[in-house]
Amino acid sequence: KKIMIINGPNLNFLGIREKGIYGNDDYESICSYIKGKFADKNVRIDILQSNSEGKLIDFLQSAYFRNFDGIVINPGAYTHYSYAIFDAIKSISIPTVEVHLSNIHEREEFRKISVTASACVAQIYGKGKDGYVEAVELLLKR
Ligand code: DQA
Repeated sequence: KKIMIINGPNLNFLGIREKGIYGNDDYESICSYIKGKFADKNVRIDILQSNSEGKLIDFLQSAYFRNFDGIVINPGAYTHYSYAIFDAIKSISIPTVEVHLSNIHEREEFRKISVTASACVAQIYGKGKDGYVEAVELLLKR
């Protein structure tokens, strides 16, 4: 199976940005952590990141053309207002799980609303890097 993990804006700044909220682990170590969890499984995991909305849509479309079986996406702040990403997830019809490191439901009001979640099969939040692992496991079970 092939799973694509897509990270949106500012997630490359993990380990630098708001450590009290997102923790001390840097982006690269989180990617290795996730890949390590599935190293002995028969699954290929590609992890991609971009700060640009259009790039994130290109990643989603490439998952369609390359026949990926599932997608895990943390759209960062685009979660809260990108109908373009919502449409892209809807367009490709590949099961997609939305992940947030932090508990978006216990922060600022604007973070409680996800416009992308309703295009996804599940939303996982507040579990840090293990949220990604849980999301991949959920997709592999389907
Ligand atoms: C985030 C939550 C978003 O509200 C925020 O804009 C992010 C990260 C998370 O992983 O908790 O950039 O998606």
